[in-house]
Amino acid sequence: MKVALISGITGQDGSYLAELLLEKGYEVHGIKRRASSLNTDRIDHLYQDPHHPNQKLKLHYGDLTDSMNLTRIIEECRPDEIYNLGAMSHVKVSFDTPEYVGNVDGLGTLRILEAVRLLGLEKKTRIYQASTSELYGGIPENKNDNGFYDENSPFYPRSPYGVAKIYAFWITKNYREAYNMFACNGILFNHESPRRGETFVTRKITRATARIALGLQEKFYLGNLEAKRDWGHAKDYVRMMWMILQAEQPEDWVIATGKTTTVREFVRMSFAEVGIELEFKGLGINEKAYIKSCNNLEYQLELGKEILTVDPKYFRPTEVDLLIGDPTKANTNLGWIPEHDLASLVNDMMSSDIKLMKKHQYLKNGGYDTINHFE
Ligand code: NAP
Ligand code: GDD
Repeated sequence: MKVALISGITGQDGSYLAELLLEKGYEVHGIKRRASSLNTDRIDHLYQDPHHPNQKLKLHYGDLTDSMNLTRIIEECRPDEIYNLGAMSHVKVSFDTPEYVGNVDGLGTLRILEAVRLLGLEKKTRIYQASTSELYGGIPENKNDNGFYDENSPFYPRSPYGVAKIYAFWITKNYREAYNMFACNGILFNHESPRRGETFVTRKITRATARIALGLQEKFYLGNLEAKRDWGHAKDYVRMMWMILQAEQPEDWVIATGKTTTVREFVRMSFAEVGIELEFKGLGINEKAYIKSCNNLEYQLELGKEILTVDPKYFRPTEVDLLIGDPTKANTNLGWIPEHDLASLVNDMMSSDIKLMKKHQYLKNGGYDTINHFE
């Protein structure tokens, strides 16, 4: 039986990847941080009874800032594959905690590579590093002739997060070349899901849309509505992480959809999912969105009601204006074909958040929490 170790197993990608690897028959080990409140919501359904002899998911307390702890965990489970997904992954927050991000997102990767090497596992253990489209920084002139970022495009990170991740990218590549390790970077463009953290823009939008449609919230605030992102579904992207480690040679891969969309359009699509049409008026920090029509009898809001305002508090000191990736190499060489497009992503996130907010509404009104009530 193959053994995998996932750092960041409690995050969006870690939880989907753990599911995938368990389905494939792996024994899965995950590193979780000790927190004062529970942080395993996304994987609880996979970890019902730690004492059960067939429990194939095993959790270890750990932290990417602690070399000895990482070395001990790797020695204990001697993994065939390590997926290093752990990171402080919020770009805006990285401007507030730059040193910590350098330590976790940059040096954390080195700690894992070095532990594998010191334990003499460099021939056995394949390593996936969660690299990112933030490395490109959205510099227009660095796109290829077809207008995309690909594996050969130059990097120009625009945040402490991007700068830490560029160290992680190069140290992974360096260990591959210096010690012949099977260590790969997946340069993943934005990917989202119903499990996306609540402060990333897509989830912030789908949660607020659901709450506004249900009358639980009046309006919400966003930053740069003009920013464009290449958004895919996390389930498709974790499948590709696994494929990268099954490839014949260790290489770096771009994973993207090849389409880019503004934040404003994502807002429009989310409201359209519940039959609400919006009208955007004003420019820059004065832009607002209003209810134009409601075509779903369940979600009737006052026409002309203001539901979105720009708040400069969400602007970044340096912004990545536009990201669009070229996944041709992954499509051609590994046969990676995503199952979701942006419309099905928005549909998945909206139906999940409508269900969640209906549950909140029900509980707020004194209802009982019966698990299947809203399934
Ligand atoms: P996420 O939901 O924010 O999950 C991050 C995970 O890292 C969580 O499990 C978190 O633990 C853990 N973590 C944070 N600090 C840690 C530390 N000091 N030691 C050990 N673990 C730590 O992120 P994601 O969206 O799943 O992304 C997974 C990885 O892919 C990240 O490295 C991210 O930077 C990268 N990436 C993401 C995208 C994307 O669009 N999602 C695109 C490109 C690259 P807690 O649960 O305790 O916070
Ligand atoms: N978070 C957030 N909140 N972003 C906003 C908001 C807001 O209120 N309003 C506008 N935005 C804009 C941001 O300025 C950015 O241009 C875009 O929405 C996307 O922001 P996020 O969803 O926070 O994601 P990100 O692109 O900065 O970073 C994500 O993708 C990277 C891959 O490109 C993260 O998952 C990173 O970890 C990942 O590496």
